[in-house]
Amino acid sequence: MKSISLNRFFFFLVFSIPFCISAQKHTERELILIDKDWRFSFGHLYDTQKDFNHATGYFSYLAKTGYGDGPAAPAFDDRAWRKLDLPHDWAVEQSFSEKASFSHGFKTAGKNFPEKSIGWYRKKINIQETDKGRIISLKFDGVFRNSKVFFNGHYLGTEESGYNGFEYDITAYVNYGGENTIVVRVDASMEEGWFYEGAGIYRHVYLKKTNPIHVAENGTYVTTEIKENNAEVTADVTIENKGSYKGMIEVVQTILEASGKQIATISENTTTPDFYKTIHYTSKLQVNDPLLWDIENPNLYRLVTEIKQDGKIIDHYETTFGIRTIKFDAEKGFFLNGKSVKLKGTNNHQDHAGIGTALPDELQYFRIKKLKGIGSNAYRCSHHPPTPELLKACDELGMLVIDETRLMGINDYHLNNLKRMIERDRNHPSIFCWSVGNEEWKIEGGIVGERITNVMQGFTKSIDTTRPVTVGISSGFKSGISSVVEIMGYNYLGNGDIDAHRNEFKQQPGMGTEEGSTFATRGIYFTDDAKHYQSAYDKKPRPTFYSIEEGWKFYATRPYLAGLFIWTGFDYRGEPTPYGWPSVTSYFGMMDVCGFPKDNVFYLKSWWGNEPVLHIMPHWNWSGMEGKEIDVWAYSNCDEVELFLNKKSLGKKKMEQYGHLEWKVKYTPGTLEAIGYKNGKKVLSEIQKTTENPENIKLSVDKGNRTNSNVVVVTVETTDKKGAHVPTANHEITFSLKGGKILGVGNGNPTSLEKDQFIDNIELLPITDFEEKKLASADSNQKVTDSEDNWQEAFKDRDYKNQAPAYVYRGKFDLKSNLKTNTVTFFYKKIGANAVISVNGNKIAPSTEDDQKYAFNTSVLKQGTNAIQIIAQPLQKLKEWDVMNTDPGIIQVITPSEPWKRKLFNGYAQIIIQKEDNTNEVVLSAAAKGLNAGSLTLKK
Ligand code: GAL
Repeated sequence: MKSISLNRFFFFLVFSIPFCISAQKHTERELILIDKDWRFSFGHLYDTQKDFNHATGYFSYLAKTGYGDGPAAPAFDDRAWRKLDLPHDWAVEQSFSEKASFSHGFKTAGKNFPEKSIGWYRKKINIQETDKGRIISLKFDGVFRNSKVFFNGHYLGTEESGYNGFEYDITAYVNYGGENTIVVRVDASMEEGWFYEGAGIYRHVYLKKTNPIHVAENGTYVTTEIKENNAEVTADVTIENKGSYKGMIEVVQTILEASGKQIATISENTTTPDFYKTIHYTSKLQVNDPLLWDIENPNLYRLVTEIKQDGKIIDHYETTFGIRTIKFDAEKGFFLNGKSVKLKGTNNHQDHAGIGTALPDELQYFRIKKLKGIGSNAYRCSHHPPTPELLKACDELGMLVIDETRLMGINDYHLNNLKRMIERDRNHPSIFCWSVGNEEWKIEGGIVGERITNVMQGFTKSIDTTRPVTVGISSGFKSGISSVVEIMGYNYLGNGDIDAHRNEFKQQPGMGTEEGSTFATRGIYFTDDAKHYQSAYDKKPRPTFYSIEEGWKFYATRPYLAGLFIWTGFDYRGEPTPYGWPSVTSYFGMMDVCGFPKDNVFYLKSWWGNEPVLHIMPHWNWSGMEGKEIDVWAYSNCDEVELFLNKKSLGKKKMEQYGHLEWKVKYTPGTLEAIGYKNGKKVLSEIQKTTENPENIKLSVDKGNRTNSNVVVVTVETTDKKGAHVPTANHEITFSLKGGKILGVGNGNPTSLEKDQFIDNIELLPITDFEEKKLASADSNQKVTDSEDNWQEAFKDRDYKNQAPAYVYRGKFDLKSNLKTNTVTFFYKKIGANAVISVNGNKIAPSTEDDQKYAFNTSVLKQGTNAIQIIAQPLQKLKEWDVMNTDPGIIQVITPSEPWKRKLFNGYAQIIIQKEDNTNEVVLSAAAKGLNAGSLTLKK
């Protein structure tokens, strides 16, 4: 490595993945993903009964430990709840309504939908007897939002923000060698942002097991200094002791290069921290001729921290890191490893088409690869800490990141959230800047904003000395936050005079934290407000906002500005400005919600990327527009572009730097061809051709996928008889899949109110009007007619000392429909012995695998009111204070969903599929009226 004369050199640790080892080796740490096999049901925001009577006990879970009630109680019967795997976003599963939230994309969840704002999750896990003596914790990467977690009925805590990772120590509550119950109550009624945020456990959950002496969570932090050809690594480790051992321990720190080869190691003995205390332990290591992390070559290293007790390894913790230097210069912008890098960034939220916020990890790579494909080198996490896998993808693919906290403030809520973000993320080489806020309109221009920024900035530095701090500012660029923030974050040219600010604050580096906010609908070339269509030609969207071209020209030509972040890379749910209902996604993206490019992508590719680009717009299918003038634009980085219609030249034009070219062309079907020249030589050509009618469905694996991943993003389109893509097709396509699961469908149409997911509907029906009558004999098979005498409310005033030999109970349940395809199951809860259950006069046998489960064949059921009868011998109280079950159980009706389908939108749709774990082959089939079916086979 060449020696670089920069003032500051940094060595960054990246991603802390505690090492997983086999279950037998119980001395080291284990991190076990527990995303699979959860039970889920909606509760209710304020109707306690519909919230399963949670928190109604005489002693609440806050009064007595272990008193979690309703679903929080381990014995709660969740057999009728839906089974699902995480990550899960229940908001995306819902339909749309005008009454729902504009910012959350009009999904019928959250505020205004009390029956869709509380979600309950339950999971049973076994923890071995041999785990006794270890520290056992539950680790959540993020739950939206206001989650309460219970373990075996014990309340563990509340995490308000939907963007924080959090952990609970469950060691004391574990049932070793047996079953344990995890329960999470999620309250998504309130919004934290003004954009779609999803709802539920939308990030990973882990079970973690460590030795009592272990590296604390996010407990490594490494900085480096590059000296000549070496990097000196300072690896700071926080060791925690949750046990009573008092002797010495040995800490071994080893650096591995990407191939796994050990390149440096150091070991030292130290005293164990006291019970429930931590110590910081620091090692210095050398890396000779380090391979630096950068955008093109994101080289990564691993630091392995091992703790040994009496020579035996008791903890093994891995931290991925990269070596690189960063610097902002008020004159010259941003430098990575001593080289000037213009930030070509995008802002993004975290949702994707079809799947909302519950992104499988593969989608993080998919999205970052798409952004890199535009030539983008930087990503701003707007406006909250991302999921750890997003940062992992940025580290591995080479994408610089601004990591942003959610809310400005100086008290525990704000500073603690900020601290947790920095401690979790400070080892990622991709992160080059912390953002402590965005467009805080109430405070940004005044003294309160200035004071808060001073605290947050200083506080940030107290945790990470190696990165600067920014805030996205939108009003005035004169006073308040802008006068004290380390890196000025300009949100939009139209919000103030950037050059004037810079002249006043010459020492303050700056970048455009937001620019653009332009409107475009993919594949649309004429704005039509009635249809909520925004044409895809780059244009000034509102009087105080600028086009992408105007924005880039401004930033590209000012060396003192480090670069800009376009609002946004991808469209997202919510904020469908300039429209409202029935538009449900934003129009701002360079790509739509699926990642299909709008034409602006090619503008950016031309001026951000390194490859020759030539793109012409629009498509050339304008039947009915013959003879009318159409705007034809070319995006290119060629010196000149010549346009031909049906081989006739329409003129050669010179490309201005950071510009585009325009022609007015009278429409005639045929071939529109552009030829790009560099130094007078033809280097590229690009064609838009009038197609024939669509005939075939084409399914293909999107180029953004990584090879061999278990989640695959598939592009759906139609082709004409010659195999040409038809850009105007809007057919509805129906899908079926073998060997996997469909996760979601989308098409990038901001006004589409089609379903994102097709999942079976589960309805839980209580038994109403539950009454009882005493019987003279204990025979459960006796016939009892429904005659009206002597029935009374079941269990009311039951004298448990003088019970009848048997009771007959009757109740009702209402079926909205009695479709043959429905599955109706009664999950009986024992209210007596030897129960005999009948429905509408038909005796039903219990299921063979569970004698408290009864399948009701639809032939004995009817739409409307159905009668259920139970004859059983009463249960006896063993102790005076025994609480007897009086709930007969619940009826579950499963209505299978219709087949997965989605309309194409201007030629494209997307389907996201997940391969089954042990499958060798996945086959996706697609059909539509009037088209030849398509199919795609994916092999292992
Ligand atoms: C900005 C804001 C973004 C988004 C954008 C839309 O003011 O920071 O979150 O709302 O406007 O134009």
